[in-house]
Amino acid sequence: MIIKNLLKKIPHACLLYFTYIRSITPRKTVNLFFSKVSRRIGSITPSAHPYIAVIDITNICNLRCYHCPTGKKLYGRKPGFIDIDKVKKFMVEYGKYLFVAHLFSWGEPLMNSNVGRIIRLVRSYRVSTTISTNLNTKDKARLEEICESGLDYLIVSIDGATQDVYSRYRVGGKLELVMENLHYIKDYKQRNKLQTPIVEWQYLIFDHNKHEVEAARILATNLVDVFNAKSGIVPKQFHVAWFGTKRCPFLWSNVVLQVDGGIGACCNLIDKEDDFGNLSTDSFKKIWHSKRYKGARSLFSPKLIDRLEPDLKHPCLNCSLVHLQPHLKEYLQKNVHVRSEDIASVHEDDTIAVRYSKDKEPVRTD
Ligand SMILES: C[S@@+](CC[C@H](N)C(=O)[O-])C[C@H]1O[C@@H](n2cnc3c(N)ncnc32)[C@H](O)[C@@H]1O
Ligand code: SF4
Ligand code: SF4
Repeated sequence: MIIKNLLKKIPHACLLYFTYIRSITPRKTVNLFFSKVSRRIGSITPSAHPYIAVIDITNICNLRCYHCPTGKKLYGRKPGFIDIDKVKKFMVEYGKYLFVAHLFSWGEPLMNSNVGRIIRLVRSYRVSTTISTNLNTKDKARLEEICESGLDYLIVSIDGATQDVYSRYRVGGKLELVMENLHYIKDYKQRNKLQTPIVEWQYLIFDHNKHEVEAARILATNLVDVFNAKSGIVPKQFHVAWFGTKRCPFLWSNVVLQVDGGIGACCNLIDKEDDFGNLSTDSFKKIWHSKRYKGARSLFSPKLIDRLEPDLKHPCLNCSLVHLQPHLKEYLQKNVHVRSEDIASVHEDDTIAVRYSKDKEPVRTD
């Protein structure tokens, strides 16, 4: 009860960081410090390791959200579930540096029947775990499993207070089922005296649902720990999401373990061809200092601009953040592989993924 009352007083952003406390070790702290320094000075071969991991435990989903490539069935790689041995291999090498692992990227994590085992495995390395879910499941045992596994933070994506408005974005979703599940989790935690997962109602605000934010806030009262209403990204205005960001926030601190063992630099890059390496063939250290990683980091150093290959082929070149770099303006205009000067055109399939190659067609499955 005391902890619960305390949690209510802590603002949302702090609450998520609060879950990282159990992850702190001297080694991780030193690594974090050097990672920050490397980014600040723009080192292209950082000695520090990433301290945040995204582990995409499945890229399959039961909904069809309008701006999500998975929702549109525009997969960038074969749909599937991650092999738990790949997660083990990754954790053995990197668990000692990680503060948090986000166990989702482009799919619905609760569809993976191993979700509880994966949470336990990751937590055994003293790494905090988060999941974002649409919570459209009838499997109450799975809800119990994620509570019992020790999951630290659960984000539930609910962008409406009525079925009609909710399902405009979460196509195929049932608000009644989601609400039933939220009550179930709340009761289960209470019955079993569990403090975690901390549950967040995430409300993505778009034009079609902004009038229901306050009604949703009322529904969320006393049901979840955090109500977080924030702007949803509209692909053609993606650059707005970077407001205030100068250097890429991911290239020095994050790593994405894709569902098939591929290593990606950030969640925006989803296509297989855009991976920075694969753990089945290379060690992470080699990938971290590969030409692709070094090339990406050097895009953010004005003093290295003269060293860039004139027609460099690189997945980050179609990222709206790269297009916002004033020192790259001329370079991007000249590079024949860059899709267009217009940032918006990189999202021409109207999803929030960054697509690179001119001739590449996303894999459509149905
Ligand atoms: C691709 S989803 C995968 C996890 C899960 N299926 C879900 O929707 O919560 C990852 C996160 O992206 C968010 N998301 C989806 N569409 C978005 C958009 N247009 N702008 C910002 N975030 C978005 C989801 O709400 C979720 O928190
Ligand atoms: S945003 Fe999440 S729920 Fe919606 S289609 Fe994508 S993966 Fe599924
Ligand atoms: S695509 Fe953009 S956000 Fe992602 S790693 Fe490259 S530069 Fe950073």
